[in-house]
Amino acid sequence: MKALVIYYSLEGNTKMIADAIKEEIDCDIARLIPRKDIPKKGFLKYFFGGKQVLLRQKPKLKSFNNNFEAYDLIIFGSPVWAGSYVPAFNTLFSQANIINKKIALFCTYRGNEGKIFKRFNNKLIGNEIIGQIGFVSPLENNAVKNSNKAKQWIRQFIK
Ligand SMILES: Cc1cc2nc3c(=O)[nH]c(=O)nc-3n(C[C@H](O)[C@H](O)[C@H](O)COP(=O)(O)O)c2cc1C
Repeated sequence: MKALVIYYSLEGNTKMIADAIKEEIDCDIARLIPRKDIPKKGFLKYFFGGKQVLLRQKPKLKSFNNNFEAYDLIIFGSPVWAGSYVPAFNTLFSQANIINKKIALFCTYRGNEGKIFKRFNNKLIGNEIIGQIGFVSPLENNAVKNSNKAKQWIRQFIK
């Protein structure tokens, strides 16, 4: 089974889980990087990030591997922003045709995962969602334990 993990991360939490998954199943990996991202520090990140979510913005992205045809399993990873996935996925979903794939979803968040999985599911109709899991601030809350949790989670889907 050929797998791709595709993720966005502003502050490293989602990257840490994506890297753990890659380590466990030796899949391809792609990071969504906006050409102009929101600030990493301070209150402003919540303002700009929240605004992008509410306005359903599609930030321009640096190029990434968007040849999804080649994969049987696609693993999407996103931080929760304002109860949803990050705007970089709006861009991806507007450009990519993802159909008849197995899909696994993970998110990282601080306290409330909101509707992120519902939103992902709505965008991925025509695919089979085989798993979804959330991690609470994995870098702060015992990175090794969270990394192992991610590995155990993904292993079950790889035969
Ligand atoms: C703009 C913005 C909005 C956020 N909204 C939420 C939220 O609705 N619920 C929540 O639990 N955490 C929220 N967070 C916290 C992040 O989801 C959390 O810190 C996540 O692990 C960050 O992932 P990263 O380190 O990969 O960027 C928000 C963070 C930002 C920057």
